[in-house]
Amino acid sequence: MARILITSAIPYINGIKHLGNLVGSQLPADLHARYHRARGNEVLFLCSTDEHGTPAELAAAKAGKPVADYCAEMHAVQADLAKGFCLSFDHFGRSSSPQNRRLTQYFAGRLADQGLIREVSERQVYSHADGRFLPDRYIEGTCPNCGYDRARGDQCENCTKQLDPTDLIDPRSAISGSTNLEVRETKHLYLRQSVLRPDLEAWIDTKTDWPILTTSIAKKWLNDGDGLQDRGITRDLDWGVPVKKGTEDWPGMEGKVFYVWFDAPIEYIASAAEWAEASNLTDSEWERWWRTDKGAEDVRYVQFMGKDNVPFHTLSFPATIMGSGDPWKLVDYIKSFNYLNYDGGQFSTSQGRGVFMDQALSILPADYWRWWLLSHVPESSDTEFTWENFQTNVNKDLADVLGNFVSRVTKFCRSKFGEAVPAGGADTPEAAALVADLTARVQQYQAHMDAIDIRKAAAELRAIWVVGNEYLQNAAPWTLYKTDPDAAAAVTRLALNLIGLYAALSQPFIPNASETLRQAMGLASLDWPEDVAAALTALSAGAPFTVPDVLFRKITDEEREGWQEQFAGQRG
Ligand code: 2FM
Ligand code: ZN
Repeated sequence: MARILITSAIPYINGIKHLGNLVGSQLPADLHARYHRARGNEVLFLCSTDEHGTPAELAAAKAGKPVADYCAEMHAVQADLAKGFCLSFDHFGRSSSPQNRRLTQYFAGRLADQGLIREVSERQVYSHADGRFLPDRYIEGTCPNCGYDRARGDQCENCTKQLDPTDLIDPRSAISGSTNLEVRETKHLYLRQSVLRPDLEAWIDTKTDWPILTTSIAKKWLNDGDGLQDRGITRDLDWGVPVKKGTEDWPGMEGKVFYVWFDAPIEYIASAAEWAEASNLTDSEWERWWRTDKGAEDVRYVQFMGKDNVPFHTLSFPATIMGSGDPWKLVDYIKSFNYLNYDGGQFSTSQGRGVFMDQALSILPADYWRWWLLSHVPESSDTEFTWENFQTNVNKDLADVLGNFVSRVTKFCRSKFGEAVPAGGADTPEAAALVADLTARVQQYQAHMDAIDIRKAAAELRAIWVVGNEYLQNAAPWTLYKTDPDAAAAVTRLALNLIGLYAALSQPFIPNASETLRQAMGLASLDWPEDVAAALTALSAGAPFTVPDVLFRKITDEEREGWQEQFAGQRG
């Protein structure tokens, strides 16, 4: 049994996430977790909310709430929506947890002990109108790299370049819009990433199996030196992890906090510690996932994230881990994604553009979204969500292919043989050919799932559904029944077993539908079909079943048009 540690990039706390966020990390991570659990592997799947830094402060201010209250409320909202989408986290933590505070301060102390932190007196932008420094997202302006006029002080959303507030052209305060700004000196801690460059480069060079998207971003940063400039890891903010060297005060750093991108990835570790505490487990239970001196040497650690997060995960966080000198687990595989666009433009949280998780669930159940999003996941290029495409794919794949198969088979059986698997008949060459074909296809499906080739996996799963339909269409038990009821019974028995097979194979993609099928087929559990031939005889003659309610309904043209209109503007 393999042990798989899975983390999804932790979503910012500042509001409900849109479908572009969902498909770029949490949803594919869930697919991977579900698949490995189904294969009998031991999985620890962690996610959290990213609660520090300017996104949290700005959103709380906008909501007119104290930031701690805002974060607690939004965490509950996001946890609820995660449940709604069947995201099977073992723990959904919070980067503001005491565990993360302790670990973040601990890492800073270790890095200082290793000589990897230097104190820098730096120039920061101070706003007279706001009476404060304007780090990161508190400041906006034009990107010096690409000219995008809404670049933020920490990163340009358009070209992904990491920025410093003083890099921006025509800067303005994101709080007041004031341009009455002044550059002032303030002392900060810098992580000496540049010292670790050779180690990071050698490590990245060993990752020959990583997606090109991941390694190309990492190498670009390594080679132009950009990502490996020493980076400030503290900020002049109130909300965040207070700067400490382990448990000791850090002279000169009073009143400052760590930069959100320093503590956020450490939350991956802290989330495991939170999980152990919440599950009444000892520290050694989470450490066996994270410390190679305590059992984690045989763990495979896989991270999921959007492409804008790649530099932090390929360089900055590994620099923290390596630089600590402790045997923490380094990531084994980074699956990164391009962007999902929305109907001719970008999804945008700040502009309320697109479909957000709560809205999606209010119009259709999770499986419809899961299927479309995962089968269109932006793996090799940016992808676009359009309502037409969504309607077509849901209606074809889910309603016509899978749903219709289930409905035809179960209703036919009920009408001719009753609500139990029929006996009689013998295997035919067609049935044997089907088993052989499915055996090969399931192998392919597994290979794609193992490789986290999600679109290919979805295409193979769809093909597996199609093959069953074709078999049924050709065998035509409704016609056969008139001349040879025994032969029709054998076809029906096999088709009922196909439903069980589909339930197991489809579970990572559409867990609710799988559960409906499991119950309808009277299966005690959904066992992975390691042996397809055996799986297709799991339901033997006499086993009772029920005809499930409509598995997937079709989306009508009127509905599509209505949604198109409803989601054309900004979120209210
Ligand atoms: O881009 C984002 O949504 C960030 N909150 C991701 C952080 S991932 C990590 F490092 F924890
Ligand atoms: Zn730019």
